[in-house]
This record gives sequence, structure tokens and C-alpha cells, in this order.
Amino acid sequence: MKHIFKQGSDPAAPVLVLLHGTGGNEHDLLPIAEMLSPESSVLGVRGNVLENGMPRFFRRLAEGVFDEEDLVARTKELNDFLDEAAREYGLQRDRMIAVGFSNGANIAASLLFHYEHALWGAALLHPMVPLRGKQLPDLTGVPVFIGAGKNDPLCSVSETEELQSLLEGAGAEVTLYWDNQGHQLSKRELYAASDWLDNRF
Ligand code: MLT
Repeated sequence: MKHIFKQGSDPAAPVLVLLHGTGGNEHDLLPIAEMLSPESSVLGVRGNVLENGMPRFFRRLAEGVFDEEDLVARTKELNDFLDEAAREYGLQRDRMIAVGFSNGANIAASLLFHYEHALWGAALLHPMVPLRGKQLPDLTGVPVFIGAGKNDPLCSVSETEELQSLLEGAGAEVTLYWDNQGHQLSKRELYAASDWLDNRF
């Protein structure tokens, strides 16, 4: 997958895997990585799907309606890519934390839904439930941060709570942060994500 890799100054710090929103690219979340964990190695990844020229991590049939077959295949593609990148850059595969926004948060959630050891943890910024009716793997103790907006037209309060309960049902330790914004990142949310990272890793 197209990506950018930045070697961190502290090999013990978690590796941040950056997953952009629709229309973004592998560079988008670099300033957020810098704010969350400046010593970390960073892998910014670009989604392989194009929707009217806009990169995404998986296809959708309409806004909020996902192409599940593609989602499952693209989730495997990303997981395989993380395995390869760990080998190529000498990274600890079991120390990767996803930081995803919107579509990127959804594929990160899908990694958690499909693979027991895909991620050490995840910061999901404005995620949705990636798919339903799936038995989740054992996620005991996996720290997950969810940043959500009370007025987010794409991710409703009830869907956010549904995601939280699905993840907690599989054993994940979910920290849910609400702000009063819509489907955009807020500084407060990022400070909360930064505190979560400092406390959990
Ligand atoms: C987006 O625009 O990225 C949606 O809100 C989320 C998605 O389609 O995965």
C-alpha cells in the first residue's frame, strides 16, 4: 500500500499507524501523530480504493452503507500490509496503535473486529460500526479510545454506543470521549486521546 514511514527517536514508543478519512492521504494525520507521541515511529497509510478520485480504505455503496465484501478483503489487505511493513522497517508488530479518522477509524475498527493481534490499541476518531452480526475475536485488555461528536451527522450517538458495547463485549477497554462537535476533529478530543495514550502505553 502507498505509505510514508518516519523513524521515531524512541524504539520503545508505540508505532503509530495513521489511517486517513475519505479524500485524505498518508500525510494527513502526521501533525496528530506528532502531538500524540513525538518519539514514535509513524506509518501513514493511503487507502487503495478511489471514490470519485478520493482515497478510501474500502468501498461504500452509499454514505454510511458499506460494501461488506470489500471491507473484509481490504481489512485483510491492511493487516497483511502491517505485517510486511513491520518486517521491512524492523518494527515490533505487536506494538502498533492505529490512529484513524472517519473512514480510517472504520477500517481500524474492522481490524479489531477481524484479527485478535492486529493492533496493540486504537484511537478511533469518529468511527461507525464497521459491520454487524460478527463474532469478535478476544480483545481482552486492548485499549481503545473513541472520540465522538454529540452532533455528528454520520456517527450517531446510538451507533457510537453500539460500537463501544461491541468492543467491550469482546473484552476491550474502551475510553469514550464526547465533545459537542460534529464530524470533525476537535483540539479537546485530541488532548483526550493524548492523555489516553500517555496513561495506557
Ligand atoms: C466517511 O466519509 O469516511 C464516512 O463517514 C465513513 C466511511 O464511509 O467509512
